[in-house]
This record gives sequence, structure tokens and C-alpha cells, in this order.
Amino acid sequence: MSVTTRVYIDGTIHDEATAVVPVFDRGFLYGDSVYEVLRTAGGRPVDLDRHLERLARSANAILLPAPDLTSLAAALYATLAAAANPESYVRVILTRGAGEIGLDLALAEGARTIVLAKPLRLPPPELYERGARVVVVDVIRTPREAVDPAVKSGNYLNNILALAAARRAGADEAVMKNAQGRLAEGSTSNLFVVRGGVVETPALAEGLLPGITRRRVLELARARGLPVAECPLEPSALVAADEAFLTSSLRGVLPVTRVGDAAVGAGIPGPVTRALAAAYTEYLAAVASGANGH
Ligand SMILES: Cc1ncc(COP(=O)(O)O)c(C=O)c1O
Repeated sequence: MSVTTRVYIDGTIHDEATAVVPVFDRGFLYGDSVYEVLRTAGGRPVDLDRHLERLARSANAILLPAPDLTSLAAALYATLAAAANPESYVRVILTRGAGEIGLDLALAEGARTIVLAKPLRLPPPELYERGARVVVVDVIRTPREAVDPAVKSGNYLNNILALAAARRAGADEAVMKNAQGRLAEGSTSNLFVVRGGVVETPALAEGLLPGITRRRVLELARARGLPVAECPLEPSALVAADEAFLTSSLRGVLPVTRVGDAAVGAGIPGPVTRALAAAYTEYLAAVASGANGH
């Protein structure tokens, strides 16, 4: 099977070479855009409805016209079909479009819709076996009173700098605190800890992206009778945790075994983390087989 990248831009599907956006697009000039990233399982987009709902909420929050989700889904399926990869990475982007340079929304000439499909590349299996190393960085998560972190906007500089700080410290992912000094989330992931058998994750009110995988993993945990809590968490909760893990659409459930130089729990992926990773893998298999209605 061919392995290709295809990009839908406002009604036309391009290959990589012709997939271009004008430099006057405000997505390029200002990060004036919102987006979603998802993966396929068995060629089927995972949690598409939830991703599109979040995209619509993000668009609303940045005062973009509401996208027509039915035609957006159709564009996504058409792009996936054109790319024809066994499994795809999919990125859906809505920008405010091009216009005369200036911040004023009135200068924007019309929103632009982009759907990008390329071969899915997942983190290496070794990372799941040894577990990720995270570090709590000084770059804080944007407060909700600024661009609300619940909005998946195209302006990721804050998170880019957080990840850069983590990389300098030799870590795989950054953990950002909120302005109150409590745990928020990773640069492109949500954070969970397991303490005393309870699966805990920072509450949405702490200021973070409501991850689609976060929600799915909470559902899977509850369905298995595991106690879960969405609550404020101090950084000490991470250091003292029995287990920790990250979630994202591309990572699924990724164990965290080190925070800086300290081991989390026994320093190996813990049993609750492994159970939830297995549950998520099962969920993906169900999506792949069409068993969950997709
Ligand atoms: C800041 C941030 N938090 C969390 C996540 C995980 O979200 P999801 O599970 O919807 O992929 C992402 C995904 O890229 C992200 O960018």
C-alpha cells in the first residue's frame, strides 16, 4: 500500500508539494487558528466526534465562525481515502484566513479549512517499556484568563518553550504548573498520577486542555471499577506518586517512570498504568474492528 501525505485545503485535496497557504494567512502571521490532532485505528478516525466537538468549542472561543462539522467530517474522510495509508495521523486546522496585516478581526477575509493526513508514526515501543522521564518546568501553562488552555489554538509557543526546557534537562516531556503552582499538564499531553490505588488527574478547572484521551482513559478506569479523581494536585503529588502516566491521542497511555532524577514508585511502569494502557489498546482494537459503531 502507498504511504502518502494528502492535504485538503478549502475543497481541494493536494499532495505535499502543492499544499501551500498564503503567507498573509493569520494562522501563519499570528497563530490565529485552532486545530485538532487525531489518529486512525484500522483506518478509522479515533474519537472523531469528540475531536470535532472540541474543535467547534475552540473555534467558538476564538470567535471563528462555527465550522459545519458534517462537511468537515466528509473532508476528513476524503483526505484519508486520498492518502490511503494503513494508519494515518490527521490534523484538522481552521485558520481565520488571509487579510491585510493587523490584529483586527475585521481584516480577515474568510476562514480557511485544512485537513492533513500523513502516515501515523507512534513513539517507539522501548519508550513504553522503560517509561518516560518528565521534568516540571518553570514555564507555566497559560492561565485561563489569557488564551484558555482548554482552547486548542495554533499558538503553541508557550508549550514549545516548555518542551525545550524539558529537552535541555534530558526529559521526554515537560510538565507545566498553573499560575497557582499546581500541576496542569504536559506540553502535548495530560498528566495522571496513581496514589494509594486512586487514579488522579488535575481537574479541568486547573487550566488544561480537556484531552480526548484523558476523558477516554477516565471512562475506561471507571468502567473497570478503579477509583478516579479529577482534583487539584501539588507538584509533590507527582514526586510521591506510586505511578504516573501521560495521555494523548498519539501516545495513548505512556508510563512516566522518572521525574527529573527521581524514580516514580518503583521506577518501572506500574500495574494500574499497565492495566489502563491495555484497556486503551483494547479500545483502539474495538475502533479498528468497527465494534464501537464507527
Ligand atoms: C496541551 C495539550 N494537552 C493535552 C493533549 C492531549 O490531548 P488529546 O488526548 O486530545 O490528544 C494535547 C494534545 O496534543 C495537548 O496539546
